[in-house]
Amino acid sequence: MKNKIIAGNWKMNKTRLQAEQLITQLIPLVQDTANTVIVCVPFTDLQTVLALTKGTNIHVGAQNCHWKESGAYTGEISPAMLAELGVEYVVIGHSERRTYFGETDQTVLLRTKAALAAGLKPIVCIGETLAERNDGLTEQVLTRQVTEGFKDITADELSRIIVAYEPVWAIGTGVTATDDQANDAIAFVRGVFARKYGAQAADALYIQYGGSMNDANAAGLLAMSDIDGGLIGGASLVADKFAAIVHASK
Ligand code: 13P
Repeated sequence: MKNKIIAGNWKMNKTRLQAEQLITQLIPLVQDTANTVIVCVPFTDLQTVLALTKGTNIHVGAQNCHWKESGAYTGEISPAMLAELGVEYVVIGHSERRTYFGETDQTVLLRTKAALAAGLKPIVCIGETLAERNDGLTEQVLTRQVTEGFKDITADELSRIIVAYEPVWAIGTGVTATDDQANDAIAFVRGVFARKYGAQAADALYIQYGGSMNDANAAGLLAMSDIDGGLIGGASLVADKFAAIVHASK
């Protein structure tokens, strides 16, 4: 099994001062892990978190980027702006962006391409809603998200991408996918990638689970054969809870 990639998605939480406190607490708690640790923080926290984590094993990501390099796009941040700061990762296509900000498979693809071109490593989110799962559409939706959202992605580009399977019904709800539900969906997604990129590339691809993952359920989820890590929202806002998830898989 691969080492895991554990990423926190702080969403719209933590002022600069709060970010400083959380990172200061987190650094000693995760320094001795073999797993990769990433924190994806609000734009306004990036500089602070980058400075504090310099020389540590904590990697830093943003939560979105635009696909243009610059221009009249009020309120947007370009991949080049993030790369210049020293940001390494960027979350793209989170379900909250798809639901509240009109993100589509097409804009996900544009953002992913632009992020890669700027040297960033995208964490691309996919996942079905509760209605889609109840209607038996989970596999269809995941297939569409992978087919459309990764349309022009080359094999070389795929090797720099992390995929996060986040069933929308499990995000922030306290309802976690069972170990088997999460593993089955991720194995299915890996199969879709395998058909396009081959088994070797699909096996090498990191696919995380996200959705109410916490210090109590992480060990079970991370022990599953296809789950390569976690993308953690709420539990990533508390240093010892996030650290426990980082250490849940040895
Ligand atoms: P929660 O862990 O709060 O359910 O959020 C998951 C998520 O959306 C991470 O991107």
